Amino acid sequence: MGDNRVQGVHVIKHPLVQHKLTLMRQKSCSTMSFRQLLNEIGMLLCYEVTRDLPLEMLEIETPITRMQAPSISGKKLVFAPILRAGTGFLDGMLELVPSARVAHIGLYRDPATLKAVEYYFKAPLDIAERLTILMDPMLATANSAIAALDLLKAKGAQEIRFVCLLAAPEGVAALTAAHPDIEIWTAAIDSHLNSHGYIVPGLGDAGDRMYGTK
Ligand code: PRP
Ligand code: URA
Repeated sequence: MGDNRVQGVHVIKHPLVQHKLTLMRQKSCSTMSFRQLLNEIGMLLCYEVTRDLPLEMLEIETPITRMQAPSISGKKLVFAPILRAGTGFLDGMLELVPSARVAHIGLYRDPATLKAVEYYFKAPLDIAERLTILMDPMLATANSAIAALDLLKAKGAQEIRFVCLLAAPEGVAALTAAHPDIEIWTAAIDSHLNSHGYIVPGLGDAGDRMYGTK
């Protein structure tokens, strides 16, 4: 199943993704189910964001004969979750691409200013030679994603894709204006941001729902 392009964004309409997202949006969804569903959607979004990775033909030998068989060529991957909620995607993605490297990006959103505050950053030294998948379930004002992209680019990342679960139109516009080279994959673009910078209808605070904090 392909994706729909809305505002230049890849919106993943796959029924499994949409069904799991609906379960997560409901306030009755438990912490355990929320985490599990995010992990499962991470796998499905990983499948979509890697859909066009280049292949090369390798000469191999089956038990029957020799053949030319496709294998992923070129750049390997870096997965870059924004802490905390981005880690909810990480295990699912690593199950599909176990050899990926991981860059951890510690940012939190100041509740008064909605600006991103950095508290941790560690990325592989060879990030320039790898395709980087930046991940965070929520793209609201985009302050966090923009700060993360600034950090990754300053470290040398050349090719970066952003994967989220829910985006606000305001966040898509801000991210595209600040980093026009970055493509976005998401399961939905919601209506708008409320006066506290939360996505409407959204799913609430992703980090709190994942970890049972408040
Ligand atoms: C949430 C979310 C994003 C950010 C999105 O994190 O996981 O990182 O908000 O909002 P923005 O687009 O307006 O920047 P939060 O700051 O709540 O930190 P947490 O995951 O540690 O709870
Ligand atoms: N961060 C979240 O976790 N949820 C929102 O709706 C906005 C920012």
